[in-house]
Formats: sequence, structure tokens, C-alpha cells
Amino acid sequence: MGCAPLLPFNPCCLCSSGFNLFCSCVNSPHSLSSLNLEGVTQYLSKLEHRQKKREVKIVVMAGAGISVSAGVPDFRSMSTGIYQNKMDKYSLPTPQHMFDIDYFISDQAPFYDFVKTELYPKPTTLPTVFHHFMNLLQEKQMLSRVYTQNIDMLERLAGINQEAICEVHGTLSTSSCANCKKQCDGYSTMKRIRKGEKPKCEKCGGPQKPDIVFFGEKMPRKVQEQMKLNMPDLKKCDLLIVAGTSLAVQPFASFIDAVPRSTPRIFINRDSDGSGRKGDYDDAGGQHLWGKCGNYRDVLLRGDCDKIVTQICREMDWLNELQNKIKTFADNHKKKGGANVEEKLFPSLKGERRSSKQPWRAIGSSTSKDRLDARRNSSGKLKKSESERSVTRNGSISPSHRRKLSKSNSNSSLTSVGSAAVHP
Ligand code: OAD
Ligand code: ZN
Repeated sequence: MGCAPLLPFNPCCLCSSGFNLFCSCVNSPHSLSSLNLEGVTQYLSKLEHRQKKREVKIVVMAGAGISVSAGVPDFRSMSTGIYQNKMDKYSLPTPQHMFDIDYFISDQAPFYDFVKTELYPKPTTLPTVFHHFMNLLQEKQMLSRVYTQNIDMLERLAGINQEAICEVHGTLSTSSCANCKKQCDGYSTMKRIRKGEKPKCEKCGGPQKPDIVFFGEKMPRKVQEQMKLNMPDLKKCDLLIVAGTSLAVQPFASFIDAVPRSTPRIFINRDSDGSGRKGDYDDAGGQHLWGKCGNYRDVLLRGDCDKIVTQICREMDWLNELQNKIKTFADNHKKKGGANVEEKLFPSLKGERRSSKQPWRAIGSSTSKDRLDARRNSSGKLKKSESERSVTRNGSISPSHRRKLSKSNSNSSLTSVGSAAVHP
């Protein structure tokens, strides 16, 4: 059944105060001319033009799908996702228990094995076209923030400013004790896990764990701060790009509700249209208007995210810039023989390598790194982590915070596509 057209005397879908036909905000410069790629590129052209006079803020919300072409599988894709394909050998109660803090404290073996075999960044895992596209937006001074659920750190590798990246589910680059939270060196923890050891906290003997956020853990400090401030960058954003995520995990999924009603939202996804999404929490938020009556701002661009942003760049006349960016990255990477990869991912490693004048070694080689680790542990100087946490991820977003997030955005014509959940 098709959608009814927007009726002129219905309350304005942007501000609810006037009528659709007469409300001044209907002609807001934010409006999309059409809900497809053409409408998106026309709107982006307006933003690019506007950027010459005043600031433009594009926010990207990313999920595992943006790294699939780098060889990192996503979680929920039926034939290829981690939850269906990589968990059988561990005999976990559910696949999600791999990332459950209580389970980890009782038994570290499955997660440590998973780090060894799957999670440790491989030298061959490099930023995708989509990552370079975000970098291009940054270069054009149009990118204000990337919220990523990914822990592969490819945003960092692609050269996006650390300040602009918000790693909502934490990072592998730092580590701490799962029991007392004492910080330990990220690289050293990862290295010991890869050697088959079970690294323990110096202070309490608890298990060390990379600072990726497990179900039941608090969110990284940077995310908490944004949430406490009511997501200021989302509130001011001119365009939201949501790519390669099933929006199945909270509070991330709810962030899409925080942008102003007039802000267009683009959803780039290969398979999902969101309608099959089902989770444990009915009020989980993260509503969109694809295919719904009254939709005026949500565009679903279904397909491979690399191909879609390439097409956007072609339409925008940015294709050369994107290709140059990709080529420059590849040339630099080749020149340095991959030397920059681990150092970018594990900042503490850089100084150590410089002082020891050790050349980069392929992952898996050991001797020089052993000596470096021994020195690092004895120095006791550890970088302060981003992952000091206070907002819990399990149980997701509090009702009061949800009300705040969607206060000026709630609209009775928005139809929930089903609940999102912490454990879908
Ligand atoms: P999911 O696996 O839930 O969703 C990835 C989405 O990307 C799916 O809807 C795919 O259809 C889509 N996709 C896959 N490849 C794509 C491509 N090349 N182009 C466009 N879309 C593509 O991953 P997330 O939504 O990121 O948390 O999952 C969120 C969280 O769930 C993760 O951070 C993880 C997991 O539990 C942890 O606890 C580690
Ligand atoms: Zn401890």
C-alpha cells in the first residue's frame, strides 16, 4: 500500500505548530528535494556552498558494515556475521555472551581466544572507501563528529581527527582491569593475550581486558559527556549519515532521535530496512520514517556503503578527491611497510619504538617487543584512558535521558519500527 501524500492542513511535520502548507519551516533550507540519492546530493551541494560562508556540521553514525570491505565481518548478517558464524566453537549460552562482562569475569578463555583469532588488528585490515569518504568530509570542514560502534580503529587509521571520533563501544588501544578498573598498557595486554597468556591486574589480580565496552559495562567517558550535555553536536547537525549498522544496540540507536526535526537523515545499509528489527526493550528509540506516511527527511540508500558514497562523490564532483585520498593513503602505507599501523593504534608503542630504534616487525614476531613490554610495565607511566565510564550500556538509556533526547523531536506520526535492544 502506498503512502498518503502530506496533507496541507495537517500539523506541520517539522515544527507541529503551523499547518503543512503554510508553515514557514516547510521551506526550510534543510528540506530535501526528494527522498533519494538525487535529493541527498542536491542537499549536500547546498551544504558545500553554505560551508563557504558559515560552519556546516555533518555527523556520521557508523556500524560494523562500514568495515566489512576491509575484511572485518559484521555481527548480525545472516550468512557472514560474527554471531552466526564465529561463535559455535565456544559453547557460549548465547553469542552475545562473548561480550558480556559477567561472563568474562567468570571465564576469560573464550574472549581471549577471540581476541587472538579475530579481534587483533591485522596489518592487512585497512580503512575502506567509506572511511576515506569521512576523511574527505573532514577535509572539506563539513564533518563535526563520527560516532562509531566499531572497535577496529579504522577511523583513526584513515586520519580522522581523534577529537572528532567518538568510539561509543570503546577501543582496543587501551586496557584496564575488569575488576578494579586500574589502567594497564593496551599494547602489552593485547600482546600477552596473543601469546596465550591470561594477563592479570598488578593491583588486585583481576583479569585485564581491552577497553571495549561489554554488555553490562559503562560507556566511555567521551560518550557519557556527550550524553550528559544532551548530545550537543547532534542537536546542531545539518545532516546525519547512519551507515552499516542494524541500530540494534542501545544507547547508540537512540542517538538518531537527537537531531533536529528539520535535519535530513540518510541510512546506508546493504540488507536491512530496519523493519525486521526486534529487541528486548520496547521503548528503545531510534525511530525512522522510511516508507512511512509523512516522511520528509529520512532517506534509505540501500546497498554497499562504499559504492553508495562513491556514487555520491561522483554526483558531487568529488570523485577525484576521494580517489586521490585513497591513493595517497595506499602509497604512504606501502612506503612505510605498514610501520605506521600499530603505532597509530597503540599510541604508547610509538615512543617506545623511537627510543629503542626498533624497526617495525610483523605481527607475531616477538623478541624486541618482549623487551619493550618489560620496560613499559616497570615505568608505570600509562596514558589516561578514554574509557572511564559512568553511563551503563546494559539497561541502555535512562527514561529521563530518552525524554530529553527526543523532547523537541517527538512526533506522533513517527512510527516505531519495532524495539531496539541491548541484546537483540
Ligand atoms: P550489525 O552486524 O548489527 O549490523 C551491521 C549492518 O551493516 C547490517 O544491517 C548489515 O546489513 C549492514 N552491512 C553489512 N555490510 C555492509 C556494507 N558493505 N555496506 C552497507 N551495509 C552493510 O553491526 P552493528 O550495528 O555495528 O557490540 O552492531 C552494533 C553492536 O552489536 C556492535 O558494536 C557489537 C554488537 O553487539 C559489541 O558488543 C562488541
Ligand atoms: Zn584490578
